[in-house]
This record gives sequence, C-alpha cells and structure tokens, in this order.
Amino acid sequence: MNMEKNKRIAVIYKSAYGTTKRYAEWIADELDAELMEYKTVSSSLLGEYDIIVYGGGLYASGILGADLVAKRHCENIVLFTVGLANPAKTDYTEIMEKSGLTEGAGVFHLRGGIDYKKLNLVHKGMMAMMKKMSIDKKSYEELNSEERAFVDTYGGKVDFTDKGAIAPLIEYVRSLQNKEQHR
Ligand SMILES: Cc1cc2nc3c(=O)[nH]c(=O)nc-3n(C[C@H](O)[C@H](O)[C@H](O)COP(=O)(O)O)c2cc1C
Repeated sequence: MNMEKNKRIAVIYKSAYGTTKRYAEWIADELDAELMEYKTVSSSLLGEYDIIVYGGGLYASGILGADLVAKRHCENIVLFTVGLANPAKTDYTEIMEKSGLTEGAGVFHLRGGIDYKKLNLVHKGMMAMMKKMSIDKKSYEELNSEERAFVDTYGGKVDFTDKGAIAPLIEYVRSLQNKEQHR
C-alpha cells in the first residue's frame, strides 16, 4: 500500500442548472478529491491544494467562474468547460481567450445539456435574442456546429452528459499526481 500522503485535490465548479455539477461530482468521486462550489471557496483555502480541477458552464461564450483559473492560485490547475455544443466539432480558442485563458494541456471540454422549461427568465430571453439576432438570419447550411446544436435543441430538453467523457481528464490529473509524488 502506498503510505505516502495523498496529494490534495480540490474539484470546484460553477453550474447554473446542474450539468457541470454532475461532471464535478463524477470527477471528485473518481479522484477521491474534495468537491466544492465556486461561491463557497476563498482564495486562501485554494493555496492548500496541490491540484485544483475547475469546471465552469459555458454561457454566451464565457466560462462561469473563469477568474478562479485565471488567478492561478495553484501551480496545477486543470480546467473543464461544460456546454451544449459538441466538443469534437467546436473550436474553443475564442471562448478561452475571452476568459483570459489559453487552450492546451490541462483543458478539457465536456458536453452538457439543456432544459428550456427550467431556464430562468434572463436565460430564456438571452436564448430567444441569440436566435433572433444571428441564427434566424442564416440558412441551416451556413451555421457552424455550435449554432446547429443551438437550433436543433431550441425550446426542448436534451442531456448529453456522459461519465465516460471524464476519462482523459482523470488520466491527466493522475499524471500530475505522479509528478508531484516524485518531487
Ligand atoms: C443563456 C445561455 C447561453 C449559453 N451559451 C452557450 C455557449 O456559448 N456555448 C455552449 O456550448 N453552450 C451554451 N449554453 C448551454 C450551456 O452551456 C449548457 O446548458 C450547460 O450544460 C450548462 O451547464 P450547467 O447545467 O452546469 O449550468 C448556453 C445556455 C444558456 C441558457
């Protein structure tokens, strides 16, 4: 048995409707890490962890709570985003830049879902406006993958959350843990 003290891992999330929270729970469970909600976290507390995994939902091409990652409270920060668009077909460069972050190692994009019946009024309004201002002005062929995901699911309910999708992130964190153990 490995008697060395386990490196401390915090999984922190900011989620409006629960899909990011679900991924955070799966990740924390798999890594035996502490799970915390963004709003309950203080920066002094963050310094106590060796690895921080942060997950934020995507809202209008912004990452919820991205400032926590941008401030780099810890040397090892792993980020995951959760959005409606299909990560395999989406270019996240602009989204990352908008949040002052860069795409690359330690960044993972997972797919969430949406239930229009549960959206608050502001979000419902934002979605209606987005559709009217940009999507409705184009033909379906002109839409990119993100826009198509938006149109295809507009007004309905979809859930693309997939526990299997966390595997590459878990593997990455384990490689960080190994590096830390050998310091
Ligand atoms: C107002 C609004 C804006 C959104 N903007 C984006 C977006 O820019 N890109 C994307 O992939 N998904 C977008 N989504 C979808 C959410 O990211 C998706 O529902 C995600 O699963 C939400 O995470 P949460 O359940 O943790 O809040 C948006 C949803 C709403 C309601």
